[in-house]
Formats: sequence, C-alpha cells, structure tokens
Amino acid sequence: MTKQQWTLKARPQGIPDRSEVDIETRTIDHVPDEHLLIECLYFSMDPAIRGWMSDVPNYLPPIPLGDSVRSSVVGKVLQSEADGFSTGDLVVGTGGWETHGVVPAAYFSVIPPDSPFPAHYYLSALGAVGLTPYFGLLRAGKAAAGQTLLMSAAAGAVGSIGGQIGKILGQRVVGIAGSDEKCRWVTDELGFDSCINYKTCGDMEQAIRGACPEGVDLFFDNVGGEILDAALMNLNKDANIVFCGSISNYNATEPVPGPYNWWQVLARSVTVQGYLISDYLSEFPEGQAQISEWINSGQLKFKEHIVDGFENTLDAYNLLFEGKNDGKLMVKV
Ligand SMILES: NC(=O)c1ccc[n+]([C@@H]2O[C@H](COP(=O)([O-])OP(=O)(O)OC[C@H]3O[C@@H](n4cnc5c(N)ncnc54)[C@H](OP(=O)(O)O)[C@@H]3O)[C@@H](O)[C@H]2O)c1
Repeated sequence: MTKQQWTLKARPQGIPDRSEVDIETRTIDHVPDEHLLIECLYFSMDPAIRGWMSDVPNYLPPIPLGDSVRSSVVGKVLQSEADGFSTGDLVVGTGGWETHGVVPAAYFSVIPPDSPFPAHYYLSALGAVGLTPYFGLLRAGKAAAGQTLLMSAAAGAVGSIGGQIGKILGQRVVGIAGSDEKCRWVTDELGFDSCINYKTCGDMEQAIRGACPEGVDLFFDNVGGEILDAALMNLNKDANIVFCGSISNYNATEPVPGPYNWWQVLARSVTVQGYLISDYLSEFPEGQAQISEWINSGQLKFKEHIVDGFENTLDAYNLLFEGKNDGKLMVKV
C-alpha cells in the first residue's frame, strides 16, 4: 500500500516552510514483529516538534532528514504484529505526520474501548496537554494552596488547564496571554484571578507586580525570553519555577541571549525545575483518572482547535507560533 507523509527535507531556519517540510508518497510493504500498521486519525500539533526538527541536543533525538515529522498521533490499528493490540483498536502514541504508519508497538497504548470520551481527548486533556500541568504543578512545582501561581501562555492548551488546576488547588492564579480576548476567556470563563496581555501591557515587570502584589510563589513558564526575565524580578523568596517550555525561542535563528535576570534565582533562593512530562509516564493513569473526574464535574474546561485535512498540517502547525491557535491544536487527517 502507499501512504502520504510530511517529510523533513531540510533543517528549518525559523518558521518551517514547504522547502523544508513537504508531502511525499511512500510505499509500505512490510510490518515487522512488535510493530503495528496504523491509519492515522489525528495529529497533535506540539511546539516541541519544532525542536526535534533541528539538529540540536534535545530529550529526543533530532528527526532524521527524510523521515516523516515525529508527532503524537491517534490512530486505528489495521494490522498488529504485537501482543496486546488487535485490528480495529484505537491507539495513541508517538508516530508521525503520515496517513498510515508502521510504528513500534512499544510507543503506543490502546485507548480503552469503553472510554466515554472521544479519541482525540487522548491528545488533549487526557494526553500531554492535561497531564503536563497536572504533574508539573503537583510534582515538579510542589504547588500548594494559598500560593500565587503565574502562568505564561495562559490561554494555550497547557496553560489554560494549568491555571484551572491551580484554582482547584486553592491558588491565586495570574495568567499571561497575547490578546485581550484570550485574557477575558481565562478570567471570565476559566476563573483565573487576573491576566496580563503581554503585547499591550508595556513594562512586563511592572505589570506582573501590579497583578501579583504579594509576589509570585510558583512560576509555570511555557514561554521563556522577556516574560521569564520579568517574572524573575517578581519571585518571592524560596519560589519555584517549573521550566516547562520556551516557545518564544523555538524559531530563533540566532543564539538566544539571557535570561538577563538569572541572578535572582540565587538572590531569592529559587528552585528551578526542568520539567518533562515523559518522566511521569508510570503515573499517567492516576493523572488521567483525576482529570476525567474534573472534566465530568465541570471543574475543568478546555478548547480544542481541530484543523481538517492532512494537506493542511504544516499551515496548522505554524499557527502555534503566531498565537492563532484557539485551544489544543490538532489535525484531523
Ligand atoms: N515540558 C513538557 O513536558 C511539555 C509538554 C507539553 C508542552 N510543553 C510546552 O508547553 C508550552 C505550551 O504548549 P501548548 O502545546 O500548550 O501550546 P499552546 O500554548 O496551545 O500554543 C502556543 C501558544 O504560545 C504562545 N506563544 C507563541 N509564540 C510566543 C512568543 N514568542 N511569546 C509568547 N507567547 C508565545 C501563543 O499564545 P499567545 O497568543 O498568548 O502568545 C500560542 O498560542 C510550550 O512551550 C511547549 O513546548 C512542555
């Protein structure tokens, strides 16, 4: 059979374009032992993919040139050569931007057939998007009631769920987002206490001080750059930083300077925790159970932004870097 795939043809310089990532047709002729042949149904559009496209050290190896772009996917098993998987199973795991894939079974798990949720929830609230802030706050960030939580990329997939978890835990939650509309959504709909529009607020350091008069106890950083620098100047003594992402730097074409205020980590006895959701793999069932409960009780709301069509994958992906995604971004193949 043949498949279509988005092939990484060259290492992107800045925002990836069709000279670097493009559609090709390939043949599938064999499914080895311990592998599955899947039909891909949804791709997850994750900022981290941009890092894997570059030839720099990362927590996963760079995507080899000529391979399909690596991505979390939901798929349907068409052929199984591995125990524990049957034809027709819906599965979630690490595959690629391709219509069909031959994938190691070890990278996939079966979506419970009796799950009350649609399969694409396993790429959003019940996948990394919900689990990242769940373990990031509770484990890496040691979140506690009464603290002030500052959340960057607050209206994004991870940030919007993270802020709500902060509220459930009894924290005062301040978001940072890129438009008044996004700020209104997190305060009026999701219950954040306040939100700063970083594009219009002027001096970020002052804006954070105004929104967090008692200082910041826990900074959950998805963005890095100037926002990180401004946050560093507002941390309380013994504050925690969960270093979850640095999206402001992902498309940099020059070495990224700063953070200029790094000294404040020492001056305020701050703990900075580099954080990866994959370190909590064995605890996913616990996180999924709690998040399911919060969804069912109406305590956790989230948006999904699903772009239709395999051929629109790259354009969809780049919405992330323009702030034009409205919720968890996915492609329906
Ligand atoms: N450590 C982990 O295990 C882990 C797991 C999953 C995700 N992450 C990280 O979590 C972060 C959020 O990921 P997500 O999937 O939830 O994406 P997302 O927040 O839904 O989308 C990205 C958002 O980032 C904001 N953004 C983009 N460029 C920016 C810039 N230059 N400066 C400030 N904000 C910018 C945009 O919102 P605005 O309109 O507000 O600018 C955009 O909507 C990313 O850094 C990602 O790498 C980490």
